Amino acid sequence: MSVDFVLVEKPDSLAFFRQIERIYLDSFPVSQIRPNKMIIRMLEFDPNYYLLVAREDYFIVGFSLLYAFNELNAAFLDFMAIDKTYRGRSIGSELFRYTLNVSRRLVVNSIGVFFEVERESPLEYDMEGFKYRGVRFYRRHGAKVLENVHYMGVSPRTRT
Ligand SMILES: CC(C)(COP(=O)(O)OP(=O)(O)OC[C@H]1O[C@@H](n2cnc3c(N)ncnc32)[C@H](O)[C@@H]1OP(=O)(O)O)[C@@H](O)C(=O)NCCC(=O)NCCS
Repeated sequence: MSVDFVLVEKPDSLAFFRQIERIYLDSFPVSQIRPNKMIIRMLEFDPNYYLLVAREDYFIVGFSLLYAFNELNAAFLDFMAIDKTYRGRSIGSELFRYTLNVSRRLVVNSIGVFFEVERESPLEYDMEGFKYRGVRFYRRHGAKVLENVHYMGVSPRTRT
């Protein structure tokens, strides 16, 4: 079965969003998520907010949400997640690469994509912050950890 990656031009049905919502709610703690309704509104009304999906035979197995900050020549990766049952098959890696490529097309003179990664458990903490699986994943794909950024969100986070 083959996986393809698409920039969704116009999300057309609630059933479509239900698939995204299922992956989303399953992947992030409640404290971190945006209500689905807000995502739908942002996609509808804000031309700088983009939804990208990974599909296997037209079934959605992952998504990323990207905000193009054209004035900053950069994009913000708002969320990215792969359906739990599809993880570990490189779909996340491919979706991340695809998201980077799309951001280069969408953002004028793009200097890159920035995002934050949640610390998964206190046990995974190390002083360099590189042991977190999420951080390792993104570093493997060329992301750079921003040193000396001590800003903390509502729940403590690791910055990359
Ligand atoms: C991060 C994520 C998108 C990777 O998707 P994937 O399809 O499993 O990725 P790949 O198969 O290409 O790569 C697998 C690697 O992802 C790593 N990974 C990173 N974060 C992970 C997480 N939260 N849960 C599980 N695996 C994760 C795995 O450890 C594995 O690397 P390893 O074998 O060195 O441990 C997916 O794990 C996920 O949806 N996680 C939950 C949501 C999330 O953390 N999103 C990113 C922050 S916005």
